[in-house]
Amino acid sequence: MSHWPAHDPSGKAVAGRTAYLIVHNTSEVVTPDVAGREVVRHPRGAIVFREGRVLEVGPAGELFRRHPEARPLNAGGKLVTPGLVDCHTHMIFGGHRAGELQRKLAGERYADIAASGGGIRATVRATAATRDDVLEKSLATRLERWRANGCTTVEVKSGYGLTAGREMRLLELMSGAAIRVPVRVHRTALVLHALPDEHAGRRESYVREVRDALLGEIHRRGLAGAVDVFCDPVGFTAEECRSVLERAVALGFPIRLHAEQTERLGGACLAARLGARSADHLECATLEDWRALAAAGTVGVLLPAAALTLRQPLPEAGLVRASGARFAIATDFNPGTAPAQSLVECAALAGRLCGFSAGELLLAITWNAARALGAEAEVGHLNPGAWGDAVVWECEALEELPYWMPAVRPDTVFMRGADLALPAVERRVWP
Ligand code: NIG
Ligand code: FE
Repeated sequence: MSHWPAHDPSGKAVAGRTAYLIVHNTSEVVTPDVAGREVVRHPRGAIVFREGRVLEVGPAGELFRRHPEARPLNAGGKLVTPGLVDCHTHMIFGGHRAGELQRKLAGERYADIAASGGGIRATVRATAATRDDVLEKSLATRLERWRANGCTTVEVKSGYGLTAGREMRLLELMSGAAIRVPVRVHRTALVLHALPDEHAGRRESYVREVRDALLGEIHRRGLAGAVDVFCDPVGFTAEECRSVLERAVALGFPIRLHAEQTERLGGACLAARLGARSADHLECATLEDWRALAAAGTVGVLLPAAALTLRQPLPEAGLVRASGARFAIATDFNPGTAPAQSLVECAALAGRLCGFSAGELLLAITWNAARALGAEAEVGHLNPGAWGDAVVWECEALEELPYWMPAVRPDTVFMRGADLALPAVERRVWP
């Protein structure tokens, strides 16, 4: 669900003639192809935006001839890619858990920290104690940072509420933050994350309540575009996840799973069986799991920051390739396992840890990530008809994106064909 573009106060989007622009003098324009399988590179290419969308990409000379009316914008000899898509974050929460990182690094297990009152439930308490306006503001600030790092589409999960009222509070606050910041926000209800303190010792009734009451309420109020669960010994069993996800599917929700993170519980195969959009984490997944995802068209989402924090290995590129599955990379931004604030940096890590090429990494943070959100018709590439969400980077070659550490920064971020750094009157498009 994309909130920002839906809130166009003009009611009639963009005035055609004025929002017509050609971005030229690039080192190259790089985009996934129309099938989202290969990366296409247009050396010294140009891109034409019209009425907020991509009209054409190709050789600059040709595009200039065909679009003499378009307003030229000089990219300064730099790399242009689609706006990035961070398809897995938990960025609405209060507090932080920096102390826990020290405990993990000293050898304590994630599961033991959780069992001793730390972990997800510590953030649940901190989030409950944070005022609405503070949570909304901090989410907006984070979204702004993501945009400044080149992400124009960001998924945000609830999950630090746990009880029905607190989960819905987080989903509502997300819309408030999303309309403040020009980023496309996809809201996901993470409905099985941890057992709330209030339900200690009453697992079954909690899962039943989520399945029989909470999901329906979220659906009725239109609070989320997808449903997610945490299938893990630290979270919920495959059977508990199945019962909740089947209800979500029956209500019409696309579904996603946190699967095979700290142990292999069968979440990946469950994702494939239920036709989930994605199975995320997969640190403990096997080739068989990846093949099941491939056969089902379910995207495997790798979260390198979480794997690093928990000191777990990530899959080898060769294994992922052999499976034929699509894979995405996301930050998993959360206060416990992944305080990671740059998607490009996560891709740079995955490149080194797994052995992926620059082209594979770009697909993983654009088209494939958009597919995990069901948004690949609109974002994650620069093919004609896509939203004009693009980034001019402070570098020249695609290979530099996963090369520099800290990550390369955007020079310019376009949303709907508009450079947001310009004053509104100059941009000539809303916002
Ligand atoms: O994706 N795995 C479950 N949820 C988060 C971690 C949440 C936390 O530790 O606060 C994750 O890694
Ligand atoms: Fe996560």
